[in-house]
Amino acid sequence: MKSIVVANWKMNPVTMREAKKLFDATRKAAESAKNVSLIVAPPAIFLRELRARYKGKRIAFAVQSASAEGGGAYTGDTSLLQAKDTGAQYAIVGHSEQRAKGETNETAGKIVAAALVSGVTPILCVGERERSHNGEHFTVVKEQLRAAFANVEPGKVTKVLVAYEPVWAIGGEKAMSPRDMHEMTIFIRKTIVGLKGEAGMNIKILYGGATTESNALPMLKESGVQGFIVGHVSIDAVRFAILMSSIS
Ligand code: PGA
Repeated sequence: MKSIVVANWKMNPVTMREAKKLFDATRKAAESAKNVSLIVAPPAIFLRELRARYKGKRIAFAVQSASAEGGGAYTGDTSLLQAKDTGAQYAIVGHSEQRAKGETNETAGKIVAAALVSGVTPILCVGERERSHNGEHFTVVKEQLRAAFANVEPGKVTKVLVAYEPVWAIGGEKAMSPRDMHEMTIFIRKTIVGLKGEAGMNIKILYGGATTESNALPMLKESGVQGFIVGHVSIDAVRFAILMSSIS
């Protein structure tokens, strides 16, 4: 099975011109990484033009956030149907940087449900802000999953990609250990099976948080994840190419 990489560019780069340059390098990296399906999540404002430049099949596009609302008086928001019309097949939901601005577990649940109705695949991010030794992070993740899957029919469960992103690892160079992630993949599967039944066993799980060219391969081999959300390394064309070839 191909692994999945989501290149989360966040609020980068500054100009369309730079975005095109980064995209061209990203495309080259994707073309030589035959075992990887790449999803590029640029700032929404660049998405349509990048989509138009791309004629291949290996790269899909995502928005980094979207509203659950269909339209109306929501200044600054983008609807899922607008995202789809722009060329996005995926939407990141519940990223910790959106949660920090007020997105709640319940909002994330509404966006997941709306995405499935709109025919956009949600990439649901979960993960604790801090880790203590008493296992509280499992409670946090369980509650995030419960709310996010609340309105998902059992038949649609595998249409949601789950990305576990420990917030304390994001932006750094040191990812969680594959062994700890393995424990988390088992926990996530078990939780979704508990909520939605056996289909939960087949859910795809990604890891995000300081994924680099040196830790991606061991994580892929040892933790039971199907791929990654890559943040800052995805906007460094050289490092990203090495990362992609390391797992292909
Ligand atoms: P990072 O970001 O790879 O820079 O840690 C990942 C993310 O926030 O999705």
